[in-house]
Amino acid sequence: MKLIEVKALKKYFPVKKTAFARHEWLKAVDGVDFSLEKDRVFALVGESGCGKSTVARLLLRLIEPTEGEITFKGENIFKLKGQRLKAFRRAVQIVFQDPFASLNPRRTVYDTISEPMKIHKIAKGSELKDRVVELLRKVGLQDVLNRYPHEFSGGQRQRICIARALSVSPEVIVADEPLSALDVSIQAQILNLLMDLKQQSGISFIFISHDLKVVEYFSDEVAVMYLGKIVEYARTEDIFRQPYHPYTEILLNSTPGIKPGTKRRQILSAEVPSPIDIPPGCPFHPRCPKRFSPCDRIVPELEGSGGRLVACHLRTG
Ligand SMILES: Nc1ncnc2c1ncn2[C@@H]1O[C@H](COP(=O)(O)OP(=O)(O)OP(=O)(O)O)[C@@H](O)[C@H]1O
Ligand SMILES: [Mg+2]
Repeated sequence: MKLIEVKALKKYFPVKKTAFARHEWLKAVDGVDFSLEKDRVFALVGESGCGKSTVARLLLRLIEPTEGEITFKGENIFKLKGQRLKAFRRAVQIVFQDPFASLNPRRTVYDTISEPMKIHKIAKGSELKDRVVELLRKVGLQDVLNRYPHEFSGGQRQRICIARALSVSPEVIVADEPLSALDVSIQAQILNLLMDLKQQSGISFIFISHDLKVVEYFSDEVAVMYLGKIVEYARTEDIFRQPYHPYTEILLNSTPGIKPGTKRRQILSAEVPSPIDIPPGCPFHPRCPKRFSPCDRIVPELEGSGGRLVACHLRTG
């Protein structure tokens, strides 16, 4: 069953005036399609600035799209109102990168975790307290109800954020770089916690990361984004066994510990072009070691079969 479907999604931000026009458009998300199946983990990967967090904010309906739609269980989330919107706000939760910034420093752990349950009228009184204690146990914390965020380490704070997301029994968690603010040793612990939740709780995940090793371990499907577009989409095992897009190949080859096919370490040359001034043709062509004649003129479509899609002239000719 498809829980979430993203269709032709675009988000353009207006940026400062120029001499010739009132403003230009920064194409943060530029025509993205994907879906999340129940009990699955769908990963979005790509370099900084390619639009991952913008997709996350659209998925949570924190911002409105320029074009396109997102459906949750068949309903366009941008048209939801009243009780239906409230049910959606409960069903889809987010865990952010920085667990400190997403916790209110003046609120105790109990306040933080009980609040969503109060808002959604899930429990009150002693039942509410029991549920908070149980949620904390689930994420590996004990006897912390009256403590404040500053008393915890980064990993513990992320556990609190995860407990808060779990408190309303969500169907989907959007995790936007949930490990990248943490020490490497702590990352593995939080990742194991997420793995347990994936296996035991029936929650489906949209997992955003630039760390491909984590994605390989945790996700079922991967979409690789580049300058607001998906350039490759495949089952995780397929993409790690054989990447089709030169960009994916370089991303994999530049990740320590992952060796798809070639042994040579490749590093991405030059900076990502600005999303205000996206190159013509294939947006990756200025950095692509395999570019040939059509690449700087014709935009490659995302094409393929059997759930394996790639936007590259090398593949689609
Ligand atoms: N509110 C905004 N106004 C203008 N530009 C924005 C806004 N939000 C994001 N952007 C721009 O949109 C592009 C995509 O940003 P986004 O945060 O989605 O990238 P990201 O893939 O999450 O990057 P990172 O890996 O660094 O988190 C960037 O160029 C960013 O500067
Ligand atoms: Mg981001």
